[in-house]
Amino acid sequence: MRATLIPVVLVLAAACICAKEEPPALQLEVPTETRSRFAALDDVRLLANGLLQLGQSLREFVQKTKGQINDIFQKLNIFDRSFYQLSVLASEIKEEEEELKKTTVVLKANNEEIRGLSEEISSKMDSILQEKSRLQEKVEGLEEKLRSLSHGLVTSEQVAEINGLRGVIHSQEQSIGELLKAVREQSDQLNHQRSKIKILEEKLTANALAQDTMERIPEIFNAEAPTLTPYLTPSSTDSARTMNLPPDCSELFNRGERVSGVYAIKPNGSEPFMVFCDMSKDHGATVIQRRRDGSVNFDQTWETYENGFGDFHGEFWLGLRKIHSLACQGNSVLHIQLEDWKQDKRFIEYRFHLDGPRNNYTIHLTHLSGNLPDSMSNHTGMMFSTKDRDNSNHQDSNCAHQQAGGWWFNTCGDANLNGRYFHMRPKWRSERRRGIQWKLGRKGSYSLKFTQISVRPVASPSIASSSFEPSVFL
Ligand SMILES: *[C@@H]1O[C@H](CO)[C@@H](O)[C@H](O)[C@H]1NC(C)=O
Ligand SMILES: *[C@@H]1O[C@H](CO)[C@@H](O)[C@H](O)[C@H]1NC(C)=O
Ligand SMILES: *[C@@H]1O[C@H](CO)[C@@H](O)[C@H](O)[C@H]1NC(C)=O
Repeated sequence: MRATLIPVVLVLAAACICAKEEPPALQLEVPTETRSRFAALDDVRLLANGLLQLGQSLREFVQKTKGQINDIFQKLNIFDRSFYQLSVLASEIKEEEEELKKTTVVLKANNEEIRGLSEEISSKMDSILQEKSRLQEKVEGLEEKLRSLSHGLVTSEQVAEINGLRGVIHSQEQSIGELLKAVREQSDQLNHQRSKIKILEEKLTANALAQDTMERIPEIFNAEAPTLTPYLTPSSTDSARTMNLPPDCSELFNRGERVSGVYAIKPNGSEPFMVFCDMSKDHGATVIQRRRDGSVNFDQTWETYENGFGDFHGEFWLGLRKIHSLACQGNSVLHIQLEDWKQDKRFIEYRFHLDGPRNNYTIHLTHLSGNLPDSMSNHTGMMFSTKDRDNSNHQDSNCAHQQAGGWWFNTCGDANLNGRYFHMRPKWRSERRRGIQWKLGRKGSYSLKFTQISVRPVASPSIASSSFEPSVFL
C-alpha cells in the first residue's frame, strides 16, 4: 500500500512544481487539447519517474545506513561487555594478590620463628656441651682421687657418686645426639618453608605481570593475543602427594625410606596424619607410644587420649583414633620394647586389633614372641580407661585414677605403660603402683626407663595365615 502511494504523491508534487512554471489559468482552461501541453505532461512523467527512482535509492540508502548503525551499536555492546569482564578479572587478580601477600607475610614470620628455634637449640647444645665437659672434668678428678687412694679407703658413697656421674654423662651424650637430630630436622623444615616462600614470590611476580597487562587493555584490543604466563600449581601437586601417601610406616620402608623420623601417612579410610616412623630394624614400624624421660604428663583425660598428645621427638601417645585406623588395616603386630635402669632391653610381640570408639577401644591381643613375660594377653577384651572414664574390671576403684595414666586396665594389675615416670624408685608401694609397669612374673614389677610401642603389618603372608585366629578378634 505504502509503496504504491508514494509514486502518486510524487506525481502530484511534480505536477505542482511544474504548474508553477506555467500560468495556472491556462491549465484550467484547456487540459488535454494542445500538443505542447501533451509534451509538457510527458516531461512531467519523466521527471516524476526520475524523482521516484531518486526516492527509492534514498530509501535504500537510509536502510543501509540504519543497518550500519545497528552494526556499530552491536560492536560497541561487545566492547562494553569485554571491558566489563576484563575489569572483573582485574579486580579478582588484585584480590588474589592481596591474599598471597598476606600468606607471604605469615610464611616469613614462620621462617623467622624457625630461625629463632634453631638458634635456641644451638645455644642449648652449646650449654649442654659445656656442662658435659665440666662433668667430665669432675669425673676425671674423682677417678684421680680413686687411683690415689687404696681400694679399702674409697667409700661406697664415692663409688656410687662416680657411677651416677657416668650415667649422667651417658644420658647427656644421648640428648646431644637427639638435639643434633632435632637441629637437622629444623633446618630441613626451614628449607622447605623457604622454597614455599619462593614459589609464592614467583606467583606474585606473575600476578604483577597480569596486572600490568590489565592496565594496557586498549592496546590489547589492537595487538595480538599476549602469551600466557605459565601455571604455578602447588595446590595440585599437594593433592597429588596426598593421593600417594603410604598407609603406614611399613609401606614407607618398602618404598625405600630408611631414616627414622616424622612422616605423613594415610591409613585406608582415614584422613592423613603425621606419625613417627621407626626404621631402625629391617622394617618400618609406626610408633604409637614412647616414654623416655618423664617430660610429658601421661595422666590425661579420655578426650586427650583419643586425640593423642606429647612430642614426636620426645614422649608421646599417638591417640586412640589414629591407632584404631592403623589397626583397622588388619594383620597388625604390636611390638612393645622396654628398657630398665640397668640398660636391660627386652621386647614382646602380639597380634593386635583395636575396636573403635563405640566399644571404648577394646583391645585384642594374641601373644606371638619376645623375651618379656606375657603380661598383656589377659588384657584382651578390655576397654580403654582414663581417670575420667573408668571401664576397668575393678569393682570399687578407678584404676586409671589409682594408677595414673590411661590404659586397658584389667583389675588394675599386670601392665601399664602410660603410668607415671619415676627417675627414682618410690619409697611407698602405693606410689610405685602408679609407675610405668610391666609385671615380671614372681619378681614383681618395677618402673621402667624407656618404653616404645609400635605397630606394623605381619611381615609375610605365610606368617599371617599360620598365626591367624579369627576367633580371637570376634
Ligand atoms: C580400604 O577399605 C575398604 C573398605 O573397608 C576396602 O573395600 C578396600 O579394599 C580397602 N583398600 C585397601 C587398599 O586396603
Ligand atoms: C563405654 O564407656 C562408657 C563410659 O564408661 C560406658 O557408659 C559405655 O557403656 C561403654 N561402652 C560399651 C560398649 O561398653
Ligand atoms: C593375667 O595374667 C597374669 C600373668 O599370667 C596373672 O598374674 C594375672 O593374675 C592375670 N590376670 C587376670 C585378671 O587374669
